[in-house]
Amino acid sequence: MLKNDLLLRALSGQKVDRPPVWMMRQAGRYLPDFRKLKAKYDFFERVRNPEMACEITIMPVHQVGVDAAILFSDILVIPQAMGIDIQMIESKGPVVPTPISTKGQIDQLITTDIAGRLDYVMKAIQLTLKELHGSVPLIGFAGAPWTILCYVIQGGSSKTFDRALDFCDRHPDLAHQLLSKITDATIQYLEAKANAGVHAIQLFDSWAGLLDKDEYREFSHNYNKKIVGALKDRLPVILFAKDRGEELDTLMDSGAAAMGIDWNIYPEAARRLTQNKITLQGNLDPSILLGDEQVVREETVKMINRFGVQRYIANLGHGILPETPVENAIAFVETVKSFKIGQI
Ligand code: CP3
Repeated sequence: MLKNDLLLRALSGQKVDRPPVWMMRQAGRYLPDFRKLKAKYDFFERVRNPEMACEITIMPVHQVGVDAAILFSDILVIPQAMGIDIQMIESKGPVVPTPISTKGQIDQLITTDIAGRLDYVMKAIQLTLKELHGSVPLIGFAGAPWTILCYVIQGGSSKTFDRALDFCDRHPDLAHQLLSKITDATIQYLEAKANAGVHAIQLFDSWAGLLDKDEYREFSHNYNKKIVGALKDRLPVILFAKDRGEELDTLMDSGAAAMGIDWNIYPEAARRLTQNKITLQGNLDPSILLGDEQVVREETVKMINRFGVQRYIANLGHGILPETPVENAIAFVETVKSFKIGQI
């Protein structure tokens, strides 16, 4: 039994007195205690150690007061489990020494026993649920197949992901083979997470904005839809397709319980497109949290009033920035938690 089930109530459209609040990428980065662990252990060491993953997951619940925990891990554990070497290099981000470029490489990718290969994630979930004592729900996550494709074809982070886009242009059939395999592995992974006890799932399509409308349906949304379809009868799924707010009306057909949105769309426009039929999550510009604390509070109240209290999850429009002062993250969360209907 959960003591605080606000997130699940908002996801299923039940009435709430105030919206739930959490922050994308809340587990880590800006928290001093996380930085201490970061100085001692490398990234995937932290991810693969269930005790450490649990400790990092719980930090923002205790230190910032969010209404949900999100498991400390990474979207890139899926391509790793499929047999792709991925390293995390300080100041560079993810690096794939041998990017995918041929049919032979795609044929060799592993799609069996994904849950077994990622057993450390399931152990981290079990441990975290125990440590949370039902205080707040635990969110599990995965990357959208398209966003994963971007990294494994490009070979690492990029502003444009030009190689990934070029690959889809030149070899659409190979791109679809790769996307199908990632989708298959992701469904196994998320089903195992559901079995381990997570309460909700978020699918991160961080690079959704790189494709044009038709390409987005073909190379990304159709796969996201398949993943949501496989899970939605078991637990609520939040679909975060960054920079595609203008198409919320058509992307809702995925069956997701909520759509995550970035700050490039007005709350009113997002509500109009989704006709109040679905829960929305977002969308404060994360850079507001770098500024004045009073402005954080004012912008947060304004945002809640614009979305409305029901069918709404207060969040940022993308991940919290590493240089965010902890006091401002707390001010954001506190403002949502003390919000009263009619407050200006
Ligand atoms: O709330 C959380 O922080 C939960 C854990 C989490 C991480 N990555 C930990 C992490 C989550 C939800 C992610 C998702 C993720 N990972 C995404 C989608 C979300 C988004 O921000 O768009 C993407 C694209 C990745 C891939 C990735 N991982 C990149 C590009 C980088 C380097 C840049 C960065 O974000 O710092 C990472 C590294 C990473 N993943 C860190 C953390 C805490 C920082 C590195 C470190 O701690 O050593």
